[in-house]
Amino acid sequence: MGRFYITTPIYYVNDAPHVGHAYTTVNADALARWHRLVGDDTKFLTGTDEHGQKVADAAEKNGVTPQEWTDRTSARFREAWDALGISYDDFIRTTEARHYQSVQKFLTAIYDNGYIYKDVYQGLYCVSCEDYYTTESSIDGKCPIHGRALTEMQEENWFFKLSAFEDRLIEFYDAHPGFVTPETKRNEALSFIKGGLRDISITRTSIDWGVPVPWDEKHVFYVWYDALINYLTAIGYGREDDEVAEWWPASHHLIGKEIIRFHCVWWPAMCMAAGLEPVSHVQVHGWLLVGGQKLSKTMAAEGGVRLTDIAPVVLTNEFGVDPIRYYLLRETVLGNDGDFSHEGITARYNTDLANNLGNLVARVTTVVNSKCAGVGPAPSASSPLRTDALVAIEDSAQAWERFAPHHALEATWGLIGATNAYLEKSAPWKMEPGPELDAVMGDALEAIRLVAILATPAMPGVCEEIWRRIGLSGRPTDERFSASAQWGLYPGGRQVQKGEPLFPRIKTDA
Ligand code: MSP
Repeated sequence: MGRFYITTPIYYVNDAPHVGHAYTTVNADALARWHRLVGDDTKFLTGTDEHGQKVADAAEKNGVTPQEWTDRTSARFREAWDALGISYDDFIRTTEARHYQSVQKFLTAIYDNGYIYKDVYQGLYCVSCEDYYTTESSIDGKCPIHGRALTEMQEENWFFKLSAFEDRLIEFYDAHPGFVTPETKRNEALSFIKGGLRDISITRTSIDWGVPVPWDEKHVFYVWYDALINYLTAIGYGREDDEVAEWWPASHHLIGKEIIRFHCVWWPAMCMAAGLEPVSHVQVHGWLLVGGQKLSKTMAAEGGVRLTDIAPVVLTNEFGVDPIRYYLLRETVLGNDGDFSHEGITARYNTDLANNLGNLVARVTTVVNSKCAGVGPAPSASSPLRTDALVAIEDSAQAWERFAPHHALEATWGLIGATNAYLEKSAPWKMEPGPELDAVMGDALEAIRLVAILATPAMPGVCEEIWRRIGLSGRPTDERFSASAQWGLYPGGRQVQKGEPLFPRIKTDA
C-alpha cells in the first residue's frame, strides 16, 4: 500500500463548468478510485481558481462583487461534480484563508531567497489565458489560443527570476525522466526551457482582486502565481501541522496541454526557489474538440461553439452519469486530442454498454432465472474464461497504474467480449438444466463479478448495481483489489436478479 495524491487544475470561475472541465475531473476521479481500490492512501484535490482579471471582469459584467460571483460560480462546479459522481477529498477555493496563508508563506520564502525583484513590465497580455505574450508568440497582435486582441500592459511589478533556473530545470528533467508524461509533452516542455527563459512579472497594481503581497501592500499576486500554490495549500503548507512531508513531492498533477508551461516550467522553478522539491509527476492530456475547435468558454461567449448543449449536467441527464464517465474515459487516449460529439457518445453507449456489457448481464441473469431457479452456480476452476480473466486483470491494472484509463477499459471489455463469445459458443439457453449448464453460468457470473471490479473506477454506480444483481452483498470496492480480483471467488448459491436493462439502447436514425 502506498500513497496517491492527485490534483486537477483549479478551474476559473468566470463562467459555468463545461464538458472540457468534466473531462479532466472524471479522469482524475477514476484514477483516484482505482488507487483507493488497490488500498493506497489516496487524496484527490480539485477546486476553483477565483482571482485574476478574467474573474473580476465577469463579476463586473454581472453587476456583483467578485466575492459574490466566485461564491456563486464555485458552487456550480461542485454541483457539476456531484452530478458526475466525483469523489474529491478536498475542494479548494483560492479565496479561502488557508490559501492566502500558504501563498504568502511560499512567496515570502522565494523573496527571502533572493529570487524576486522589482522592475517595470511592458508587454502584451491575454485576459482569457491570464498569460503574457510577446510579438513573436502572438499572431498579428492577437492571442494564438483565443484569437482575441491582446492588451498592452505597462506597470511597475515584482518579478520572479525564472531565468536563473534554466540549468537546474534541465538537470531536473534529466534526473526525472518520468516528470512529464506523455513523452511528447515532456519534450515540448523541455524544449521550451532550452529555448531560454525570461523572468515573469508576478504582481499587479492595476487590480486588487488577488492575494496581497506581504512585503508591498500596493500589489496583489498575479493569478497564476497564487493558483499553482493551491496544490500545497491543500496539504497544509503554511500551517504548523502541515502534511507536506506525507504527500509531497510524490504527487500527480493532471492538466490540459495548454497549461504545460505553467506546470512544467514555472511551477518546478517556483518550488526550487522556495526550497522545496518539485512535484514528481505531471500527466498532460489533450483537448476535447468539437468540430475541430477547442471547447473554450471564451470562444463560446464569442459565438464560436454552443456550450449550452455540453454542460456536464445536460449530458448526465440525457445519457446517465456512468455512460458519460465511460465515454470520457474510453473514447480518447489520455494525452491525445479527442473528438467530442453526441454521435460519438451514442455509438459508444450502444456498442460497448448496451450490446456488450448490458447484454452480457441480461443474458446471464435471464438464463440463471429460467434454468437455475434464479440461483447463481459457482464457477469452475478450469474454465476456458479463466485465462481471459487473468489477462484482463493484469492488463487493466497495469493500465490504471500508468494513467491510461482508456486501455484499462479496453482490457476490461476484452473479458466482456470473451464471455459473450463463450456464451454464443456454448449456447446455455439451449442446454438442459444440469452440471454442464451450471458450469457455464457459474463461469459467466464470475466473469461478470470481475468486470464489476475492474470497471468500478469508471462506472461506480452501474458496477454496484451489477454486483447486487448477481447476488453479492456490499460493493465491488469493499475488498482490496489484490484480494478480490482472483479467478473463482464468485461463491455460488446466490439469488440472481434479472432487473431492467442496464443500458436501454438509444434509437438512432442510421
Ligand atoms: N485556472 C487555470 C488553471 C490553474 S491550475 C493551478 C485554468 N482554468 S480553466 O478553467 O481554464 O481550466 C483549464 C483546464 O480545463 C484545462 O487544463 C483542462 O484540464 C480543462 N479543459 C478546458 N477545456 C478543455 C477541453 N476542451 N478539453 C479538455 N480539457 C479541457 O486554466
